[in-house]
Amino acid sequence: MGSSSVLSGIAKRLEGKVALITGGAGGLGSATADLFCQHGAKVLIADIKDDQSHTICKNISPSNASFIHCDVTNESDVQNAVNGAVSMHGKLDIMFNNAGIMDFKKPDILTNDRADFENILRVNVTGAFLGTKHAARVMKPVGQGSIINTTSVCSVMGGVATHAYTCSKHALLGLTRNTAVELGQHGIRVNCVSPYAFPSYQSRTLLGLKENEWLDDKYSNLKAEDVAQCVVYLASDESKLVNGHNLMIDGGFTLVNSTLTMFS
Ligand SMILES: NC(=O)c1ccc[n+]([C@@H]2O[C@H](COP(=O)([O-])OP(=O)(O)OC[C@H]3O[C@@H](n4cnc5c(N)ncnc54)[C@H](O)[C@@H]3O)[C@@H](O)[C@H]2O)c1
Repeated sequence: MGSSSVLSGIAKRLEGKVALITGGAGGLGSATADLFCQHGAKVLIADIKDDQSHTICKNISPSNASFIHCDVTNESDVQNAVNGAVSMHGKLDIMFNNAGIMDFKKPDILTNDRADFENILRVNVTGAFLGTKHAARVMKPVGQGSIINTTSVCSVMGGVATHAYTCSKHALLGLTRNTAVELGQHGIRVNCVSPYAFPSYQSRTLLGLKENEWLDDKYSNLKAEDVAQCVVYLASDESKLVNGHNLMIDGGFTLVNSTLTMFS
């Protein structure tokens, strides 16, 4: 980590932009915050993990990254976070609705619990709905902005995760598409990134791995940093005509039913 060194001499693709990242203390959120800062953006990390977020901001760049406590299921927290970005930096260009949780119980519709189901939807879907709503509130008057949601390969396929998680990511893709149509008329683009598995607290817990443990050959050699590169593209003006797109970051995983392939 460290925003100043890595990209010196390379064109900064987010120079002058202001970004809010929910779930910014996590694996993908922190990797994206770091890369955004390397590309010249000011970043506000919004998360419920205060200590971890403060440490991340310090490690990335104390002058370019800051933290605001925000539970994405709480509308006044989200409103506050968006207002915080505007009062700190004068505007909001990029909203990265990335906070997400996963449940780990085996999919079993007869025993799965309603409260667990609703909890996943509250964070993964309602959280992004609120982030989109409040970002749009400040982006519409200036007629521009880029909103990016973190979905998953589970946005387009079943059988990979729990019922709740799969529903939440399908729903978030729906929210992305519908808001892209509405907000596109106001110069605001809404897209999503759909990664396959990459190492993070969430995926390690799912796979029963220890901290820092990951088996590239068994799971995937995708890293949070690779996903962050795709988020930079959608956040930057390079993607200025890309709207309502679901950017799969899965090495082709969702294209293939491996039991029926003609390719060896
Ligand atoms: N890791 C993977 O394999 C994988 C694959 C596809 C998609 N995703 C998605 O990527 C996103 C980031 O997850 P990650 O893998 O970096 O996991 P992570 O657990 O490292 O990060 C998730 C972050 O979200 C925060 N968060 C949780 N609930 C919140 C709330 N109510 N309000 C604000 N913040 C909250 C957590 O504190 C954490 O910092 C999630 O949306 C996840 O579903 C992850």
